Amino acid sequence: MAEKWAPNSWRSKPIIQVPEYPDAAKLEAVESQLRASPPLVFAGEARNLKRALAKAADGEAFVLQGGDCAESFAEFHADNIRDTFRVLLQMAVVLTFGAGLPVVKLGRLAGQFAKPRSSNFETIDDVTLDAYRGDMVNGMAFTEAERVPDPERLVRVYNQSAATLNLLRAFAQGGYADLHKVHQWNLGFVADSPLGERYRDLADRLDETLGFMAACGINSETTPQLRETDFYTCHEGLLLTYEEALTRVDSTSGDWYDTSAHMVWIGDRTRQPDGAHVEFMRGIANPIGMKTGPSMDPDELIRLIDILNPENEPGRLTLVSRMSADAVTEKLPPLVRRVRDEGRRVVWVCDPMHGNTIKSSSGYKTRPFDSILREVKGFFDVHRAEGTHAGGVHFEMTGQDVTECTGGARAITDDDLSARYHTHCDPRLNATQSLELAFLLAETLKDARSQEPKRAAAQS
Ligand code: PEP
Ligand code: CO
Repeated sequence: MAEKWAPNSWRSKPIIQVPEYPDAAKLEAVESQLRASPPLVFAGEARNLKRALAKAADGEAFVLQGGDCAESFAEFHADNIRDTFRVLLQMAVVLTFGAGLPVVKLGRLAGQFAKPRSSNFETIDDVTLDAYRGDMVNGMAFTEAERVPDPERLVRVYNQSAATLNLLRAFAQGGYADLHKVHQWNLGFVADSPLGERYRDLADRLDETLGFMAACGINSETTPQLRETDFYTCHEGLLLTYEEALTRVDSTSGDWYDTSAHMVWIGDRTRQPDGAHVEFMRGIANPIGMKTGPSMDPDELIRLIDILNPENEPGRLTLVSRMSADAVTEKLPPLVRRVRDEGRRVVWVCDPMHGNTIKSSSGYKTRPFDSILREVKGFFDVHRAEGTHAGGVHFEMTGQDVTECTGGARAITDDDLSARYHTHCDPRLNATQSLELAFLLAETLKDARSQEPKRAAAQS
């Protein structure tokens, strides 16, 4: 029998990667303020997402998860939210239209503020301070005062997340996401790029299709799916004080839901089977994710699945593989095989970002576009070979014209990185790099799909 779970049962387990707040009374006051605040998402929405993810587990949908590595207070602006949302929509259209699969859209937005760090400290010119852990914890500026963890930041995160979600809901449901507007999503610097041209061609074809459908009586009035879209939010559930304070009983089902986002995931550094993060996640009914890096072994993975998804419910658990372009074809197969052979129903998603971070010759942390693409292709190859479904992708990306990842059609070089390097943590794909990846992915997905009937026929 599993031990009894409660929203605070994680507190008796070992925990890493969270701050020690110097002012315990202030933290408690913030926690009670958050406990009294309205939920950010509803249990019913989280259940809808779980159903959509269950389809992805069976290869009947594809997951597109993307957004900032770390949201920040400084970059909080309606235009930034709109631009990231817009590129995600463009990518989703490319994937849906190119591959003929529904796309589950999940933004790393409205809550993605806390970061695990490889070191607890940062040293610059003989001065050593606490590491920056995301705007949810402390400030990025390299001063002693800024680096002190401040609980007030949790309230600011809650408020910014509420405002972000409000805007995302308006975009998703208020007409902006109407498929008749695909041409209008192609704005700004993307429109002037080679990808903009390619996107325009696809949008023309989509317009033709919509025209044909309208002639058959299918339009935005008769079919709401054409004028609105489902858009979900997710973040790493790292700061459990925040997650606990937003965890509520759903009156319909009697289950506990973490109402800070539709989905929360466990990072690669905090997935210890008897640790606090796994303890918290096992008890909430949301769909959850778990990062799965190169140190994971098949026995440990099955043990974690036993804890996190004991009912083997499809859509409950998404495994986000982040192996690196070089390691994916060696490290992923034993895990995929074991999960398949034990009949565990999970969604496999590829994060080609976190295994491919390098330091450029100009000193910036970057990720080469080619490595990102190579890991995605390796991920698809593994699933094709094992007869399992490549369920989706997970990108760190932005709608802005940043220069953080090298390569892509516009060939950003090491020397270009300093021009517009704005990330608060890891390097993100910019809008044109993201769209380019979506086009390349649509081709891979189409190929993978076209091989499926043959495989089924060969097996029968
Ligand atoms: C992240 O997604 O930003 C992250 C820290 O990833 P990982 O846990 O896989 O290192
Ligand atoms: Co990151």
